[in-house]
Amino acid sequence: MNRHRACGLSRRSLMAGGSAAAALAFMPDAGFAQDDLPLKARAARKGLVFGAAVQKGQLSKNRRFADAVLRECAILTPEWEMKWGAIERDRGTRDYAGADFIVDYALRHGLHARGHTAVWANNLPAWAQDALKDADAQQILDAHTVTVIDHFRGRVAQWDVVNEAVEPKEGRMDGLRNSILMRQLGRDFIAHAFHLAKETDPAAVRYYNDTGFWADTAEDELRRRAVLRLLEQLKRDGAPVQGLGMQAHLEADEVPFDQKTFRRFLADVASLGLEIMVTELDVNDRYVSGAEPLEVRDGKVADMTRRYLDALLDEPAVAGVVTWGLSDRYTWLNGDNRWARKDRRRNRCLPLDDAFRRKPMWYAMAAAFDGARDRQG
Ligand code: G3I
Repeated sequence: MNRHRACGLSRRSLMAGGSAAAALAFMPDAGFAQDDLPLKARAARKGLVFGAAVQKGQLSKNRRFADAVLRECAILTPEWEMKWGAIERDRGTRDYAGADFIVDYALRHGLHARGHTAVWANNLPAWAQDALKDADAQQILDAHTVTVIDHFRGRVAQWDVVNEAVEPKEGRMDGLRNSILMRQLGRDFIAHAFHLAKETDPAAVRYYNDTGFWADTAEDELRRRAVLRLLEQLKRDGAPVQGLGMQAHLEADEVPFDQKTFRRFLADVASLGLEIMVTELDVNDRYVSGAEPLEVRDGKVADMTRRYLDALLDEPAVAGVVTWGLSDRYTWLNGDNRWARKDRRRNRCLPLDDAFRRKPMWYAMAAAFDGARDRQG
């Protein structure tokens, strides 16, 4: 695998930028994705994995959605059921039902499962937010980390061992997040979590997962540098991190994206010997006016998708793409005021629409997978 490929991008990639009209190019009658091959098959034939985050209720209560998931996905991430706040609401009482449903559903149908996420300063159970202020904070966190990874041992292909530990805005010299975990345990909690994960389930590939290093902005440049610095430090310290998970909550408009800048970052990560996954892809259309016809909104989402994936899939160390949801019907963006559309219209950020029909974003993803370098061999 040539990890030091020049940062130049293929001609096709540089052609892909452009206006929303370009998105019509992704519809079935324009030469892209002519056949019906689902995304998981298009990814797999290039040595990539494609999947989505799902919730138990979505799978168990909507057969048509479940069918779409099985058609398109080769790997599933529990959107929230595997997090500490969902599993151990009351101290010492662990409920894995939701996460087990998703993991076992995936395995029963020949799919893989991602673990998300063992160590995260968010979504802590209320009791843990207090308990982690005590002197035995490390033991409390370790008990959670080991217990949850051990519960899924042998059933999870990849773990987001640590999530969102970087936040340059908080002013630390190392650009790390000044969370309760950092304040109580110091920055070594990150490396320590990777050692525990390896001891507990050595077969699951160990990822560091974070957000916000896709855009061509000063903020995301600071994040790229802080993430790289963290990964370099972890490798120097011998922490058994194996991959970088890039959440990729993109914007369809208003926020600049530069393929060459992003491609250089990917090459820098790969040069550390790490594999790369996109773990939470969605393309927020909140900055596209609701007065625009759906074709324009969907077109901008598809165009950003294609530009991002073309740069991403040019990097040999990239192992796959997971979208954060598969259908607009269930996107988290409609329920979180920080990111929702101001006009309260439903966000059109995912490959399938509310009725689970393929959108221009689906065709853009299909075309990007079809055009990707083959990683097999
Ligand atoms: O399902 C329960 C419901 O039974 C209960 O009545 C209700 C009130 O407590 O909560 C419902 O669970 C909610 C769950 O989403 C399912 O909708 C949780 O409260 C809510 O906290 C949870 O939010 C999730 C959030 O992470 C926090 O875990 C979102 O679905 C999920 O999309 C979001 O995902 C994060 C990634 O993990 C990390 N990267 C950012 C991404 C988006 O914020």
